[in-house]
Amino acid sequence: MQNSESSFEMTEHAHDHLDIPQRAANPEVNDWVREIAALTKPSRIVWCDGSQAEIDALTAEMVDAGTLIKLNEELRPGSYLARSDAGDVARVESRTYICSEKEEDAGPTNNWRAPAEMKAELSGLFDGSMRGRPMYVVPFAMGPLGGAITQYGVEITDSPYVVLSMALMTRSGDGALEHLTPGRDWVKALHSVGFPLEFEDGASRPDVAWPHNESKYITHFPETREIISYGSGYGGNALLGKKCFALRIASAMGHDEGWMAEHMLLIQVTSPEGKTYTLTGAFPSATGKTNFAMMKPKLDGWKVETLGDDIVWMRKAADGRLNAINPEFGFFGVAPGTGYDTNPVAMETITTNTIFTNVALTDDGDVWWEGMTDEAPAHLIDWQGNDWTPESGTKAAHPNARFTVRASQCPTLSPAWEAPDGVPVDAILFGGRRASNVPLVFESKDWKHGCFLGATLASEQTAAAEGPVGILRRDPFAMQPFAGYHMADYWGHWLKTGADLGDKAPRIFQVNWFRKDQDGTFLWPGFGENVRAVKWIIDRLENRADSIESPIGQLPVTSDIDISGLDGFDPAALDEIFTVDPASWLVEVGVTREYFDSIGEKVPATLYTELDAVHAALDAA
Ligand code: GTP
Ligand code: MN
Ligand code: MN
Repeated sequence: MQNSESSFEMTEHAHDHLDIPQRAANPEVNDWVREIAALTKPSRIVWCDGSQAEIDALTAEMVDAGTLIKLNEELRPGSYLARSDAGDVARVESRTYICSEKEEDAGPTNNWRAPAEMKAELSGLFDGSMRGRPMYVVPFAMGPLGGAITQYGVEITDSPYVVLSMALMTRSGDGALEHLTPGRDWVKALHSVGFPLEFEDGASRPDVAWPHNESKYITHFPETREIISYGSGYGGNALLGKKCFALRIASAMGHDEGWMAEHMLLIQVTSPEGKTYTLTGAFPSATGKTNFAMMKPKLDGWKVETLGDDIVWMRKAADGRLNAINPEFGFFGVAPGTGYDTNPVAMETITTNTIFTNVALTDDGDVWWEGMTDEAPAHLIDWQGNDWTPESGTKAAHPNARFTVRASQCPTLSPAWEAPDGVPVDAILFGGRRASNVPLVFESKDWKHGCFLGATLASEQTAAAEGPVGILRRDPFAMQPFAGYHMADYWGHWLKTGADLGDKAPRIFQVNWFRKDQDGTFLWPGFGENVRAVKWIIDRLENRADSIESPIGQLPVTSDIDISGLDGFDPAALDEIFTVDPASWLVEVGVTREYFDSIGEKVPATLYTELDAVHAALDAA
């Protein structure tokens, strides 16, 4: 940890005219705030305390500035719509960098820049980048305050939208500041939209509703635990506690310190016998984590409670088991496709006090997006502020439109979600979007084979009808865009963790809700019916269900999958859902070998051994 080092070369002393309150007990925090203020030259400095009064005042300012539109108080109390610029709507992976000292430590799946070179360039961009704007200092915690797995950070930003979002998505403000005591590790997270309102020559310009810069940099310095983000005001680019800290930096910290930061959901499932189990699931982006985390199970007597929908941190507890927390404080979920028929719990969560970004506005001042209702309203204002009708031929909401809301509003939130030291994990699920090959659910042979399943996680780009194995978009452990160091080292860390946990390790399963028939129709109804796969997983944990050994893993006995009361479901489809076709799997094994080779020499030999075993079993089948 090298927080005492400067993030930037100091170019001048702090402005004499700036009142820089030294609010942190940790002098490193105060020094850093002073250093950044000297560089970015804001109009004033605001230490955010996280109070409701502060949130209300910021919200009012943003409504005045046109950044937020207040929604109808009767229909959507306490809620607002933000429309981002069309050039700032999603994470920008091409502008995302892992700046480790050595290029080989970033690995083939990340963009890399040398830290000194990157900082020199950023230093130029940040010089005066906050002129004419306030600079907000947001202390935050990832995880319950004081918890054993929790980490702390400070985000400096010139975006009030980011401050408000951080207040919903993290435990931010004075509570976190109290834990930033001298000597404690913390992460520096610096953000600017890159749209100063004043210039060195005295010129000025008016603000716009969504300030940003055409030039964007989302940079991570894993060795010094720093994040520097420039030019974007959007989601994962700007709320630096989320993907940047809780996944990219935290994965590197976990590798060094012996814990894990994963792109996972976290739930607890209670069976009709009243026994509760903790499950995590790594599914790639847009593959159903939020849906699964908020599942309303369609089998009588089962209960699913939500702990997290996107990020999980896990650490070995004193009793030798792997404990998990959700480090976040809210949900930043995809809006399109969310409706009362698919995810009623999400719909109930966002009835009040929610920030919507890039959804459509109804004539009565509420929100709408594709998939919220079967029929679109006759008239809307689309996500770009234009009139829209069903005849427009465009999407009313941006496909990556999001809702931002505190987790506490989720009706299925588990009381254990704030357990300071986390909850012990019973099972880990890996799931891609696979139209072919991958069965609905099966179990790994052991932890090593489970790591093989994680490392080979992928989604298909083409529909099943186009061939048995399409082009696989690899997303190992759902971490392709988020592993903050070499992917092969990350796989090695998973293998090591399992060896360390021994027989206390969670069991590992693979699931796939997306298998299709010849005509391209989903074979499995999905959503709340996925509890039927969960039931089999729990039957395995309780040694109530046998498994059939197959070349790819331990398959269910088809009759052990409970399809009672599943209206209109043809039991014959179950056979198709569990088919393991050796010919198309052999093709996949060949593709996987090429993929491992592309990751390079550091791929653990164990994973090749697992691949060879699958290959040999398929040859023998
Ligand atoms: P990020 O928040 O971007 O990390 O994604 P996520 O994993 O949370 O994905 P999300 O839950 O938002 O799901 C995205 C898409 O998956 C939506 O289009 C859903 O309709 C679809 N989906 C989720 N669960 C199921 C399922 O069980 N079956 C089918 N067919 N589709 C599903
Ligand atoms: Mn995600
Ligand atoms: Mn999600």
